[in-house]
Amino acid sequence: MKDIFKLDGKVAVVTGGAGGIGEALALGLGIHGANVVVSSRNQEAIDKVAEKITEASGKEAVAVASDVTDESSVQAMVDKVVEKFGKIDILVNAMGMNIKRDAFEYPMEDWDKLFDVNVKGTMIACKTVGNVMKKQGEGAIVNLSSVRGIRGYTGGNTGYCATKGAVELITRALALEWAPVGIRVNALGPALVITPGTRHIAENPELAKKYASAVPMGRIGMPEDMVGAVIFLASDAASFVSGQTIYVDGGLTAA
Ligand SMILES: NC(=O)c1ccc[n+]([C@@H]2O[C@H](COP(=O)([O-])OP(=O)(O)OC[C@H]3O[C@@H](n4cnc5c(N)ncnc54)[C@H](OP(=O)(O)O)[C@@H]3O)[C@@H](O)[C@H]2O)c1
Repeated sequence: MKDIFKLDGKVAVVTGGAGGIGEALALGLGIHGANVVVSSRNQEAIDKVAEKITEASGKEAVAVASDVTDESSVQAMVDKVVEKFGKIDILVNAMGMNIKRDAFEYPMEDWDKLFDVNVKGTMIACKTVGNVMKKQGEGAIVNLSSVRGIRGYTGGNTGYCATKGAVELITRALALEWAPVGIRVNALGPALVITPGTRHIAENPELAKKYASAVPMGRIGMPEDMVGAVIFLASDAASFVSGQTIYVDGGLTAA
């Protein structure tokens, strides 16, 4: 039996690839054999991640900037990738943002910002790369949802929960629509993960304890915890898996 988790010969694009989770996923894809294209708006940040991947894996990794809210910018990135590598086998949409706001006072411009990046950005990236995959007759997409995509949360998370619920339904609708052309579409649903944006929680013992005690496994997630599920969903090991969200959450959503 061949090694079904191996990604050798595959080309993977990671949007949000310099983010806390995106960097770990991009590195993991490279270490498992893929040529990785790291993308986000900040060229300097994605250059650094591409260098790290090449160093760690010996595989060629490149950094191509794009803004997921801008269709022409994503198309230009995809064109560059296809020109360089000739194909795209894997897309991981690890970009995203949260803006926490009291629902009674919710500024709708913040609602729009969240939906622009998390929802429209996911669809633009899926659509643009999906067209390349359609021509190839195969491809695997992994979108970033959250435990907040299936559960309501207090603390100003109404907008974020709504965007992640939308990401889950984009994932399932595309899985149905694109199954006939060989594209699998799945999602990853992390619980809280310590990244630069959430480090203040890990650094505050009381807050860290509160979050950890809500998780059946009794700890907060790390970016590296997210890698295995994405390698699985991106690889031939998941060749009959589509429209699913894997919650990597220490058991949180089992309740
Ligand atoms: N951390 C958690 O606890 C957690 C839990 C559950 C789900 N998630 C989800 O996991 C994903 C990654 O989270 P993270 O914690 O790694 O976030 P992060 O560290 O803030 O990284 C977010 C990434 O998205 C990129 N990005 C933002 N806006 C963009 C745009 N318009 N175009 C292209 N790239 C853009 C950022 O790069 P630039 O700003 O340079 O463009 C950055 O690389 C998000 O979807 C998040 O909602 C996170």
